[in-house]
Amino acid sequence: MSNIPSIFINLRIPVIGAPLFIISNPKLVIEQCKAGIVGSMPALNARPAAQLDEWLAEITEELATYNALHPDRPAAPFAINQIVHKSNDRLEQDMELCMKYKVPIIISSLGAREEINVAAHSYGGIVFHDVINNKYAHKAIEKGADGLIAVAAGAGGHAGVKSPFALIQEIRQWFEGPLALSGSIANGNAILAAQAMGADFAYIGSPFIATNEARAAEEYKQAIVESTSDDIVYSNLFTGVHGNYLAPSIRAAGLDPDALPESDPTKMNFGGAGKAKAWKDIWGSGQGIGVINKVSSTVAYVDKLQQEYMAAKERLMKTSEEFVGK
Ligand SMILES: Cc1cc2nc3c(=O)[nH]c(=O)nc-3n(C[C@H](O)[C@H](O)[C@H](O)COP(=O)(O)O)c2cc1C
Repeated sequence: MSNIPSIFINLRIPVIGAPLFIISNPKLVIEQCKAGIVGSMPALNARPAAQLDEWLAEITEELATYNALHPDRPAAPFAINQIVHKSNDRLEQDMELCMKYKVPIIISSLGAREEINVAAHSYGGIVFHDVINNKYAHKAIEKGADGLIAVAAGAGGHAGVKSPFALIQEIRQWFEGPLALSGSIANGNAILAAQAMGADFAYIGSPFIATNEARAAEEYKQAIVESTSDDIVYSNLFTGVHGNYLAPSIRAAGLDPDALPESDPTKMNFGGAGKAKAWKDIWGSGQGIGVINKVSSTVAYVDKLQQEYMAAKERLMKTSEEFVGK
């Protein structure tokens, strides 16, 4: 099976809180880490760029203080997400700050870049790269990433179209390193299922939108609570790349979620369609939110995940015993 880096030893449950554009902030990251899961945020959420310096100082100092007070139960490590696409003109500057603060985990997305991996390794950091198919998984590892995030169908944000089974099975044929599964994971059963499938970690995004610490409008949090997978629309209209969005926000922008046009690639932009802006007005979400029934604190949600995960493990042990010898 896979080799999990020792940095993950403090995790309470095998979960990585996924980076969420606009929504993740130091408060959420710190609470995720204190609750015992990897906390993360996109570097680009800090605006202007200089704010990243302050945010990284806040996260590292607060977690160091927490660890000094709780040596028996230290916080999980945190991660910074870098969009490595050519359009990100802050990448070099943001990466220098990650080096300054020795950010333990870098999550790179939208194209693998060798120099990012070299930079992270220079101070002892590790890099996870997110991929939507096996071809990109090979490329990411060839370029020096340490771990992979398999983004399956039903994930929030720019999701893939592959079944999680297909994706994990194909990647696990050749890759023994750390592997996270992303897409619609929202309770303890699903975390255990990700592990049973061959992944090491569950990568969870949308459920954290409905936490007190998330930087999202109250209406957005409520929409996560009230919606189910039936309300998730997969479209490339808003950014030019296919992603999953909440139908109520599309209706609020004056569009029919059941009859959205395809995006025009010649007019591709990451700002949005018409006046409605992707991410700010058109709300991203994965399909797993049907089990999110209230807005809660981050720690309360992680506690719930842990209880469900332990119960699921126990039930699985019993069930598998019943099948022995039959
Ligand atoms: C609102 C929203 C914003 C996101 N922003 C980013 C981002 O900035 N960078 C990134 O790598 N992934 C981003 N993602 C994808 C998540 O990191 C993760 O892959 C996804 O949320 C997992 O699926 P789930 O939402 O079903 O749990 C975003 C997802 C959502 C829902």
